[in-house]
Amino acid sequence: MRPPSLRTLHGAQQAQLTFIRRCAPSVSSVKSWQVASCRWQSSTSSPGQQAKKPYYITTPIFYVNAAPHIGHLHSMVLADVIKRWEQVKGNEAVLCTGTDEHGMKIQRAAMKVDMDPKDFCDSNANKFKSLAAQAEISNDFFIRTTDPDHKDAVEVFWMHLKHTLPKQLGLYKGVHKGWYCVSDECFYPEDLVAPAIHPQTGRKVMISTETENEVEWVEEETWFFPLTKYKDALLRFYEENPNWITPAHRLNEVKDWVNNHLEDLSVTRPASRLSWGISDPENQSQTIYVWVDALINYLTTTGYGAKWQGPNHDMGIWPADLQIIGKDILRFHAIYWPALLMALGLPLPKRLLCHDHWKMSGRKMSKSLGNVVNPVLALQRWGVDALRYFLMKSATHTKDMGYSNDLIAVAYNKELRAATGNLFQRIAMPRASAKWSIEQAVEAQRDDSNPVHQLKDIETLESHLVVVKDTVQKAMDNLDPAAATRATFALLREANRYISDEAPWDVAKDPSPEARCRLNHIIFQASEALRVAAILMQPIMPAKMTELLDKLGVKQERRTLEWAEFRKDLEYFGPSVAERDVRRPKWDTLFPPALDGDMSDMEALTMASNFQGDKKSNEMNMMLEVLALEARLGKDVLEQFREKKEEKA
Ligand code: ME8
Ligand code: MG
Repeated sequence: MRPPSLRTLHGAQQAQLTFIRRCAPSVSSVKSWQVASCRWQSSTSSPGQQAKKPYYITTPIFYVNAAPHIGHLHSMVLADVIKRWEQVKGNEAVLCTGTDEHGMKIQRAAMKVDMDPKDFCDSNANKFKSLAAQAEISNDFFIRTTDPDHKDAVEVFWMHLKHTLPKQLGLYKGVHKGWYCVSDECFYPEDLVAPAIHPQTGRKVMISTETENEVEWVEEETWFFPLTKYKDALLRFYEENPNWITPAHRLNEVKDWVNNHLEDLSVTRPASRLSWGISDPENQSQTIYVWVDALINYLTTTGYGAKWQGPNHDMGIWPADLQIIGKDILRFHAIYWPALLMALGLPLPKRLLCHDHWKMSGRKMSKSLGNVVNPVLALQRWGVDALRYFLMKSATHTKDMGYSNDLIAVAYNKELRAATGNLFQRIAMPRASAKWSIEQAVEAQRDDSNPVHQLKDIETLESHLVVVKDTVQKAMDNLDPAAATRATFALLREANRYISDEAPWDVAKDPSPEARCRLNHIIFQASEALRVAAILMQPIMPAKMTELLDKLGVKQERRTLEWAEFRKDLEYFGPSVAERDVRRPKWDTLFPPALDGDMSDMEALTMASNFQGDKKSNEMNMMLEVLALEARLGKDVLEQFREKKEEKA
């Protein structure tokens, strides 16, 4: 079915409207938002059936009022990790990120620096785009709300809201009086604002009790979206889909708002006050509300407007499989957005992931407050993959996260340098004169006459290797990358403990066939830990884990999830003799030494640029000891020990 063109919508004439009505919802079809007729409907495709649609994942589109910070990077990385996870599972996945460029907030920010709004947006949008590239975000789209195809999509959506809905459910005109917050770009109901004193100027102001941002009184003639008419449908939807939002407890906040604070939504601003936006195509004196404009970005990417306009069309990759947001914008995504989609009879996104905030000095890191960490410096200082790892390790979705270089340094030294990089160094890079190699160890496994089972007192890592894939898969499918990093680190820590205890360097001194067999067995256990961990960690550290898998000689087509099993792949070979015997400087390793966490990024980068040689080689040995101890005793025992020591002191 071909969608109507924008021109036919503009006229909004009776004959043309008949067509639009056919693909637009009726009151009864407000129920039908879940049933999408779409090209890629079924996942259980049998011959003749259509293929599964790609997994479609989105981040918020970010305001361009200032440069990006760690919080924005966090949302992008989280989305990218989940996209790459789908790919490791063998699924096609599409990721969209971008920038939100219209509205009062941007109009004022541009005015403040005396710039044309579009030039201002171009400059800041580029910073977000370049951050995505620097952080290895594999976004398939970078949408800007000033893009012409987005404008078309918003206009089509708008015309449907205005003209094709039953009277009760469509837009109506009215006068809006209320408290508007430019920083949050939204109105707040009377019971959610309070007087306050502006901290810098001492001025008496009104603020939102939720975000503490200033609000201003506004009275204007606008179009309204009858949000209150969607109350029952929304509540029913939440009831039927209790796991729609991760973490699930967020749904309670949403229900509370819907039950207690729902008001019809004012969805235009007079152009006299706000000109920087998309106009009502039928009346240039009204500018479409920036949140309506912004939310539609998720549809623009799917070809909405140009390629399809209703649930009876081929909707491409819509609906989104996952939308990632910060908790600051939950209401817009969990109330306004589903209501708008219901209005047009479109399927809702299948799942929302609502993450917590990075904090600095006790407050949410925010462009408006200026208490931000520059993600570009942090990426340079720690390296892309190490920073991605740290962000994901912290993404527990249970509480706000405190950013500090000390915390990054600990994770880096312990989990990446010692547990991962050094394990590789220990088992995969023995001098050529040593009596073992990964190649031999794997080869011995292929050999049917391999007499390992005849050896006595033989330890394995099998029990750990058998569970890690399932644990990581469960964690990732629950959108919990922090749990995935914990499970993988536990395996690697165990492997380090194993190598320390089994001491292959001693076994290698014994030339007997039994000892040779034992040696190969030990090396194989540890190399399996590395291989499996590397496959599982690819989404979080794409470049480093590719490097590791390359060094292990794992075939390209054996890096998907199905291969992340003990003994599944017996055809990799590890570094060659030539590679092992090259003399390399100490810093030329998978995770090179890092500078202390108590330095700022700027200081560290300055110092690194003047760095001469490596003075810290002893620290690594200490760290390995700590790791082995931790694995042997368990974290709890060590923690108790530390507490007791503190009590004594
Ligand atoms: O709200 N910690 O854009 P925005 C973690 N344009 N994540 C953070 C964060 C922090 N301290 N600060 C921001 C907007 N974020 C709208 C969105 S979507 C159709 C329109 C992340 O620039 C987090 O994802 O204020 C948050 O929801 C988003 O950036 C808000 O970015
Ligand atoms: Mg914000």
